[in-house]
Amino acid sequence: MTTPDYAEKIPNNVSLAGDRRLQRALESWQPNFLTWWETMGPALPTQDVYLRTAVNVGREGWAQFGHVPMRDYRWGIFLAEPGPDRRIAFGRHKGEPAWQQVPGEYRAELRRLIVIQGDTEPASVEQQRNLGATAPSLYDLRNLFQVNVEEGRHLWAMVYLLHAHFGREGREEAEELLHRNSGSADAPRILGAFNEETPDWLSFFMFTYFTDRDGKYQLGTLKESAFDPLSRTCEFMLKEEAHHMFVGTTGVDRVVERTAQVMVENDTDDVAALGAIPLPVIQKYLNFHYSVSLDLFGGETSTNVANYYTAGLKGRWMEERRKDDHLLDSDSIMVDALLEGEIAQTEVSALTGLNTDLRRQYIADCEGGVKRWNRILDGAGLPHRLALPHQAFNRKVGAFAGIEASPGGEILTAAEWEQRKSQWLPTGTDKTFIRSLMRPVYERGKIAAWLAPPRNGINGQPFDYDYVHLA
Ligand SMILES: [Fe+2]
Ligand SMILES: [Fe+2]
Repeated sequence: MTTPDYAEKIPNNVSLAGDRRLQRALESWQPNFLTWWETMGPALPTQDVYLRTAVNVGREGWAQFGHVPMRDYRWGIFLAEPGPDRRIAFGRHKGEPAWQQVPGEYRAELRRLIVIQGDTEPASVEQQRNLGATAPSLYDLRNLFQVNVEEGRHLWAMVYLLHAHFGREGREEAEELLHRNSGSADAPRILGAFNEETPDWLSFFMFTYFTDRDGKYQLGTLKESAFDPLSRTCEFMLKEEAHHMFVGTTGVDRVVERTAQVMVENDTDDVAALGAIPLPVIQKYLNFHYSVSLDLFGGETSTNVANYYTAGLKGRWMEERRKDDHLLDSDSIMVDALLEGEIAQTEVSALTGLNTDLRRQYIADCEGGVKRWNRILDGAGLPHRLALPHQAFNRKVGAFAGIEASPGGEILTAAEWEQRKSQWLPTGTDKTFIRSLMRPVYERGKIAAWLAPPRNGINGQPFDYDYVHLA
């Protein structure tokens, strides 16, 4: 079960060879995936890239590093090892054995959850398609491609579940996952944030920090699922996801570090002319990516999510560490609300408030990033600080969708918002400026002027390693 079969066309640890029908179905999806990768994946031509490939799912040594031509990357199907006698941890089926097959009564809901997760994976690859043209270093270029191939593998992970467990409808959904495209007018990706473009590297770092982190929390809830194959798939995806978080966290670190350095060296806040990114611009990008990522958690209350929980389809973040009955039918939670036009809170049943619970876990995690970045500013002797904007700021989903609020949480009229939003969200001028900094640096050991080099290279290699060979 644990050793993936690399002799197969599709590497896997699910004994695909033992199920000819499934194998044939996936093998006929594979060329469509490759066509999608060629047309919608990384646009920059390369010979090979120093990539990590999953070769095992065990605790130790699951990844192997080496230079590989990207189109030969072994996208495979890997599920974490099954736990012995895994039991459902929450909801109405709590204590029963986890499901190895999809129960008929939950088929539609489970399929929907898998499709929504699956849709985000290729979407981010599409959003990041052109970033290679402006990579600030070979190290960063390699990290971009690593994230891209793994998002491609996450698509495989979801497509496997659709093919293996949802029959013809599952196969049709798998086709649709390649048919929808980020930002497309007639067939866009399902969730809003995945139709935004990622036009520059500051956006990329903010995206991998804030939006990929939403993915981490969604995967965390699916990892708790009573449907064991979904749980085990997500558990392994979370391992890969850790590197994506790292790219975002250290990416923003390095932007802030470079800006702070230029500010101190030149004793000025106005570092734009010196080729670094001014802190107010970093703050605006942060405001944007954080607020659109908050929307991904949905409304403050949701009866659908309550039903998913009770049915055992989707749990809470760290479900098994929670000290309660894991049924929640007699608990309550305070959620954000707009009461008589004011930002307030209201009490709802814990089950309907589960989106709020997850969003709060996420927000606490995001605060960790801001603390880090402020430590960098502090360490440079600067009094400036970055901050997360108020939850009501720039929201399109949930209780605050109908109002406008400042980053400090002050409610604004539409006219005030129009007048002041350019102080808080990236303007055309900011975006043009950021784009003007985005010139590729493909020379080994060199880096763009707006970004500090990383502390360490990848897999023990130095920063000036030949991470990517361009075509
Ligand atoms: Fe992913
Ligand atoms: Fe990711």
